[in-house]
Amino acid sequence: MQRFVQSQHVFGIWKPGLWCCLREHARWFAAAAGPPSQKRKLLADGPTLADFLVSTSGDHTGSSVLSKSGTPTRLLERQIDSRRKRPTVGASASVVEALRALDADLAETPPAPYKVFIETYGCAMNTSDSEIVASILAARPDWFQLLNGPSASPDEADVVLINSCAIRDKPEVRVLQRLSMLRAAERGRGQRAPRRILGLLGCMAERLKTRLLDEMPSKRLVDLVVGPDSYRDLPLLLQGLVRTTDLQRFAYHVQLSLEETYADIAPLRDHGLITAYVSIMRGCNNHCAFCVVPQTRGPERSREPASIWNEIESLGNEGFKEVVLLGQNVNSYCYQSDHPYPKVTKFADLLEGVCEIAERHSMRVRYTSPHPKDFPHEVLRLYTRYAPGTLCRQIHVPMQSGSSEVLRRMRRGYTREEYLALVARIRDTVGADVALSTDIISGFCGETEAEHAETISLMEQVRFDQAFMFAYSERERTIAARLYADDIPKEVKLRRLGEIISTQLKISAERARAMVGTEQRVLVEEVVHANERQRLDSEISGKQATPAWIARTESNRRVWIPFSEKHTVEGPGPMHKHRQPCIGDYVEVSITGVSGNRLIGEIVN
Ligand code: 5AD
Ligand code: SF4
Repeated sequence: MQRFVQSQHVFGIWKPGLWCCLREHARWFAAAAGPPSQKRKLLADGPTLADFLVSTSGDHTGSSVLSKSGTPTRLLERQIDSRRKRPTVGASASVVEALRALDADLAETPPAPYKVFIETYGCAMNTSDSEIVASILAARPDWFQLLNGPSASPDEADVVLINSCAIRDKPEVRVLQRLSMLRAAERGRGQRAPRRILGLLGCMAERLKTRLLDEMPSKRLVDLVVGPDSYRDLPLLLQGLVRTTDLQRFAYHVQLSLEETYADIAPLRDHGLITAYVSIMRGCNNHCAFCVVPQTRGPERSREPASIWNEIESLGNEGFKEVVLLGQNVNSYCYQSDHPYPKVTKFADLLEGVCEIAERHSMRVRYTSPHPKDFPHEVLRLYTRYAPGTLCRQIHVPMQSGSSEVLRRMRRGYTREEYLALVARIRDTVGADVALSTDIISGFCGETEAEHAETISLMEQVRFDQAFMFAYSERERTIAARLYADDIPKEVKLRRLGEIISTQLKISAERARAMVGTEQRVLVEEVVHANERQRLDSEISGKQATPAWIARTESNRRVWIPFSEKHTVEGPGPMHKHRQPCIGDYVEVSITGVSGNRLIGEIVN
C-alpha cells in the first residue's frame, strides 16, 4: 500500500497547483516564440524556468528553490519524491545561470541551430512519443535542427536524446550500454571541445529520476533526464544546457501529470511512412503486479476525441494507409467533456468515429492494447459494421499466464476460464478468422511447473497467430517486488520461456500453412531491392537478382512477394496504368507457400 500513498504524493495531492504553474509556463513559452516585443513583455510578466528549478549548490530538499521574488516557492518544495527526498524538477547552478541569461536575451538565437538526434527504444508508444518530442523541438527551428532519415547519425549531433524503455531489465541494460558508448565516443573529441549533450527521455528517465545524475561529472552518462510528461519543457531545458560548457551542467524534469496528453501537438513523423501511431491516452491505472508502467507513465488520462479524429483526418489527407491507436489499456478510454454539454466518449464511440474517417480515406485501423478484463461488447460489434479493409480482423489480447492462480497473483482481474470465454466471444462476434495475438510472461513469482503447463495448454487451446513472450524480470517498486520473492531461478525461467516459444512457433507455422491457397488483400510496406552482395553476384553470374515486395495482411501477417515483371497494379490515370506496385499500394495476393513462419505470395492481377 505504501506505493499508492507515495504515488499520490508525487502526482496526486500536489497536482492542482503544480499544473497551473506548468500551464502558465507552457503558455509563456508558446508565446515567447512570437515577436520580440511580445517576448519582452512576457519575460517581464511571466514565470521563468528558474521558477521551476532547484540550485544544486544547496541541498535537494527544496529549500534552495529559485524564484523571482527570491523566496523559496512552496510549490516546488512540495515536488519532492518522498522516497528519495528529491525534487522532480531541477538543474545545476550553471544551467540556472544560463537560463537567467536566456531570459535576458531570448531574442538572440544561436548562430546555427543545435543538431539533435533522437534514438528510440521500446514499444510503439515510445515511437509515438519521439514524434511528439521531434514536433516540440522542430517548433524552434532557430534553435534546433533535427537529424533524421536513414543517413542521419548521432556522430554529427550536438544533442543526442535516447527515448528509453523500463519494462524489463534487458532493455534498460541495452540503453545504459548505448549511453556509455556515446559518452566514450566523446572522449576522442578532445578536452577542449564542448561536450555533446546526452539526454535520457521516457520511462527509464522517469524510473531512475536523478539517479544517473548522482555520478561524478566525469562519470555521468547523461546531462539531461526528462520523463514522459515533461516534453513541453525540453526546448527550455536544452537551451539552458547548451548555453553552458561547464561539465557540471545537468537538468531534469520528471514530474508526472494528471492531465498531459499532448493533444494539441501534431507528431512529426518520418517521411515515407504509411503507418501512423496515434496515442489516444496516456498512463495506466491497472497496477498489474509485475508492471512498472503505472509508475513511469503515471495515471491514466484520455485524450480529447476531437483532437484524435482531426489527426486521423489529416493522416488520411496526407496519404497514410494505416493508423494504430495506442494506449496502455484502450478499453478504459473515457473522455468526459462539459462543453457544449456533458458528454462521455468511450472507446467504442472513439473507434467508431475513427473507422468512419478511415473508411473514407481507405485506411486500415488497428489498436493496441485492450485489457482482457474489460473488453466492451460494443467494440466487438463494430466489427460487424466495418469491413476488414477498414477495421482489421486482428486483436491483441494479452493473456500473461494460463493459470488462474498466477493471474490472481499478477492482479490481472480475470481467470483462465474468463479469458477463454472472451476468446470465444471475440471469435463468435468478429469471425472465426480473426487473428489473435498475445503477451506471455514465463516464471512469474512462485510459478509452479503445473502452472507453467497451464500456460502451454491455454496457448494450445486458443492457438494464437502471434505471441510476444518474455521471462519475468523483477522491477523495483512494483507490487510483485514488494509482495513476492522473485524465486524462479533464471535457468528455469529461460527453459520455460523456450517451451513457450517453441509451442508458439509450432502453432504460428500451422496457422500460416492453413492460409496457403487463400487470397488476401495486402498492403505493400517495403520494397526490398537486391543488396550489394546479390548485385555483385548477379553481375558475375549474369543472372538478375530478385528483389521482393513485403506486404501485410489484414490479420497482420507479413507476406513476401518475389518480384516479377508481370505483377502490376492499376495506377491513377492512363499514364500510370499497369505500373509496378509501390509502398502504400493495396494488392490482392494468392498465398502460394510458407517459408519458416513467413507467407509467400503472388500478386493476382
Ligand atoms: N517482466 C516481464 N515481462 C513484462 N511485461 C511487463 N512487465 C514485465 C516484467 N516485469 C510484459 C507483459 C506486457 C508486455 C508489454 O511486457 O507481457 O503485456
Ligand atoms: Fe502494465 Fe497492466 Fe497497465 Fe498493461 S494494464 S500497462 S501490464 S499495469
